[in-house]
Amino acid sequence: MKQVSKLLLLVLICLTACSTPPQQPVVSSPDGSIRVEVGAEDGRLFYTVNKNDKVILDKSFLGFVLKDSDFDKNLDITNIKTTSFEETWDQVWGEETSVVNKYNQLAVDVAEKDGLKRKFTVVFRVFDDGVGFRYEFPEQENLKDFVIMDELTEFALADSHKSWSIPAYHTEYYEGLYRTIPVNELDTVCTPLTMETKDGMYLTIHEANLTDYAAMNLLPKNKTSVLKADLTPWSTGEKVYMNAPGVTPWRTIIIAATPGDLMLSRLMLNLNEPCKITDTSWIKPGRYIGIWWGMHMEKYTWYQGPKHGATTENTKRYIDFAAEHGFSGVLVEGWNDGWQNDWTKEGDKFSFTKPYSDFDIEEITKYAAMKNVKLVGHHETGGSTLNYERQLDSAFAFYQKYGVDAVKTGYVSPLLDGKERHSSQYGVRHYRKVIETAAKYHVMIDNHEPVMPTGLQRTWPNLMTQEGVRGQEYDAWSRDGGNPPEHTTIIPFTRGLAGPIDFTPGTFNFTNPVYPNTRVQTTLAKQLALSVVIYSPLQMASDMIENYENNPAFEFITSCPANWSKTVVPDAKIGEYVTIARKDRNSENWYVGSITNADSRKLTLPLSFLDKGAKYKARIFKDGEGVEYKSNPYPVAIEEMNVTSDTVIDLNLATSGGTAIILTKQ
Ligand code: NOJ
Repeated sequence: MKQVSKLLLLVLICLTACSTPPQQPVVSSPDGSIRVEVGAEDGRLFYTVNKNDKVILDKSFLGFVLKDSDFDKNLDITNIKTTSFEETWDQVWGEETSVVNKYNQLAVDVAEKDGLKRKFTVVFRVFDDGVGFRYEFPEQENLKDFVIMDELTEFALADSHKSWSIPAYHTEYYEGLYRTIPVNELDTVCTPLTMETKDGMYLTIHEANLTDYAAMNLLPKNKTSVLKADLTPWSTGEKVYMNAPGVTPWRTIIIAATPGDLMLSRLMLNLNEPCKITDTSWIKPGRYIGIWWGMHMEKYTWYQGPKHGATTENTKRYIDFAAEHGFSGVLVEGWNDGWQNDWTKEGDKFSFTKPYSDFDIEEITKYAAMKNVKLVGHHETGGSTLNYERQLDSAFAFYQKYGVDAVKTGYVSPLLDGKERHSSQYGVRHYRKVIETAAKYHVMIDNHEPVMPTGLQRTWPNLMTQEGVRGQEYDAWSRDGGNPPEHTTIIPFTRGLAGPIDFTPGTFNFTNPVYPNTRVQTTLAKQLALSVVIYSPLQMASDMIENYENNPAFEFITSCPANWSKTVVPDAKIGEYVTIARKDRNSENWYVGSITNADSRKLTLPLSFLDKGAKYKARIFKDGEGVEYKSNPYPVAIEEMNVTSDTVIDLNLATSGGTAIILTKQ
């Protein structure tokens, strides 16, 4: 009898502990301003997000459709666990040296109430600047290898906010102009999706640590402000092949008071894993030039012939120029066998170890080494990842042999291997393989036609920069006339939130013999300022070297670093203007870039970010007298003044103009 009652008591204790969660599934940010709540309603799991008691996300449902069944119904919360974390970690390179990673975490275990009793956990990390969450599938009997047909994650926005985005399936390689549309009117869009609320808050939805999964797009449900995840499919319609144990990427929401705070959020990086490369001494940010604009302006060809750009002689000329002006590298495209074919369709004919006969790589790299300049390699695949993967090790070993430690990769073709989308799980797997193989050979990567970046550079800091943007090349050949003036005042707050951009600013000659109606739609001073505004640890000055000769404004390009210890955003309005100040990682000097859209603008710049009490010399490169981007874009006035942290500089930006400033500590 005694034993029976003991047993009963035990069962009772167990039931209480097992069936009722010990606390409420609620978690707040370390500063208490952001609150995430999780619940189950009719067997469906949901979460909400509030900031200072204002709804950011209303009841937003979670779950999946798997190939053989739904996985979003009949769910029960079985356990919850809250923890806290705080660390400061250093970036190998970046917009600042140290990053604070501080969050409170809520892990919610859920399981099907009956049937297969499959389970997953949703882990929320709440930072002072937003929220990240992901699904984790633990090892279990009834869920081993499975296929995700749909991810049902919702973001139920409180209102149909104004938003900036590009459409997902109609924009090749993310090379589109950002549209400003209320969220309920969006079609399927790529992330980052940036929004401004009526009460002046800024939100960005994106993802972090995209590993062996499909990229997430978003689409509004039935024209409402409830956004639903849309994973890029395989050609067969499946979304993701998954195993348990396994995790999804983090879904991220930055919540900011100003556009500048969106840019300064490091939530995405914090949600990636720490660096996996032990010796990072070979990873070096830098500024490079290239045998590149000449191809886009049709002065040179990629393929061997009378106008071949990648000749030994021409490359040496670029190396001389790089050495003279302190550039760390020279990119050379069109150096290898394969360009003579219809290469966007016949990428499988590229060789990555066979230089054209007029490109003597041995002589070139010896010459470059003598001049302390590196050849920046190029692997255009024409979208044939199969051909590239077959050659991957030999391709990187070949470059390593010649001391080439940075390679620009490219995937120009609407589909990879004629079949799969760049942002599918297929593409994601390939890009990761390239990054990891390159690391083995101590090669840095600049990836063009990528999948949208998600902060992997924290783990693999040899992933320096990526395209995935409508870059400066559109000013060479885009039939719509080139990038409109507002473009670069939007991308720092959209694509830029996904990571460094290889936009390649710095064109000095705006004439276009091939497409006279297409040109750089900025002033020259704005081209300078873009080196600061658009962040990239490998930053290319786009123009042909002859266009830089004897131009005093070139001084700004050659002295502007590509690695920073601190970044501040004194002033910005998305689509109108941006002012950014960055402190050099290797000196006490600051660099400022300020740009405007098609409207001329007067702004003030308080230098309060400078060290108090210290003296600086400001060297200012600004739009000259009477400058206007269409008719008179070139004059740059260069001025000097002594300043301190109390100085306020007046900025006078011409139409699509800019100002670039070097602040040298005295
Ligand atoms: C497109 C890239 O964006 C561009 O930079 C490159 O020159 C061409 N592909 C050829 O690879």
